[in-house]
Amino acid sequence: MSVKKKAFKISLIPGDGIGPEVTAAARKVIAEAGVVVDWEIVPAGAGALDTHDTTLPDETIESVRKNKVALKGPLTTPIGKGFSSVNVGLRKALDLYSNIRPVRSSLGISYHHTPIDLVIFRENTEDLYAGLEQDVAPGVAQSLKIITERASTRIAKSAFEWAHQNKRQTVHAVHKANIMKKSDGLFLQSVRKVAAEYPDLTYKEIIVDNCAMQLVMHPEQFDVMVLGNLYGDIISDLCAGLVGGLGVVPGANIGDDVAVFESVHGSAPDIAGKGVANPLATILSANMMLRYLGLHKEADRIQAAIVLFLSERQHLTPDMGGHATTDEMVDALIKKIQLLR
Ligand code: NAI
Repeated sequence: MSVKKKAFKISLIPGDGIGPEVTAAARKVIAEAGVVVDWEIVPAGAGALDTHDTTLPDETIESVRKNKVALKGPLTTPIGKGFSSVNVGLRKALDLYSNIRPVRSSLGISYHHTPIDLVIFRENTEDLYAGLEQDVAPGVAQSLKIITERASTRIAKSAFEWAHQNKRQTVHAVHKANIMKKSDGLFLQSVRKVAAEYPDLTYKEIIVDNCAMQLVMHPEQFDVMVLGNLYGDIISDLCAGLVGGLGVVPGANIGDDVAVFESVHGSAPDIAGKGVANPLATILSANMMLRYLGLHKEADRIQAAIVLFLSERQHLTPDMGGHATTDEMVDALIKKIQLLR
């Protein structure tokens, strides 16, 4: 007698540009690994404007709040039409304060000669992304950088607790407190207090510009990194460039009891609809989601299939130097999942 598997109810935001293509790929892979999901598909981004009069409908926020877990494609914020960032709006509405982005060269692709295995913890709710801007006078504009002790402390706690649980060794706080003594100074003070509670971890501080140079030259010195919102965003893309590009770096936005999983990349309008988007970043984000749901066996199997698939260097999309379409890459990956049954 076959036992019917429990279905997980998960919100799915396909998003804009390549979003529908890469999230469809992730759904196929999850299904192949034997995870049954009842997807609740909800709109957001530029596409949502056609059907709803907003880029972030209430029903979307409510769906994620109710299901507590979502897989999300990238969202386009229409530029110059008075729309505030949809991503920032979603993260703020759900208080998804911790943006976690693992960057690994062990997946088999790297542009660097040294192994890279670092995890970025980016504060996700404030900083220059608070969206507080104004024209002060003709020819003069102002953006407010908001840093609070509360937000800095909780992102530091996420980073240190994760580093402790996962037996990591070093946490770097990245800042520019030599110039922004008040805002980045408060960030550092807050992180230092948390660091003092974790004597098993080595705590280091590094100025963001030096950090960028050190990452390019000696990325192996970085283990876990904790950063404010803007530095975290920029350093994430730099790190993606070290391990094969935006097509392979996943991410998670975690709050106290809600989590939204999405890749680091955007909607890639230059390749949208061409069927050549690299789905790996979204598949890896979905794999982080499976682990969050406690489905480690299924996640291990997908991870092993990805490593096997990449080791053969075939059926790669153009961003990885190949000629495969998204569908061809997914089909080849699915064959590896079947092999590892
Ligand atoms: P992007 O990440 O969309 O694209 C940068 C470059 O990387 C492009 O050449 C693109 O073709 C390539 N690329 C990105 N993902 C790829 C993939 N999976 N496979 C192959 N190539 C890939 O960044 P861009 O162009 O700055 O932003 C485009 C739009 O995306 C903007 O509207 C932006 O606001 C939005 N965006 C949304 C994000 C989100 O929803 N989390 C994050 C970043 C940007």
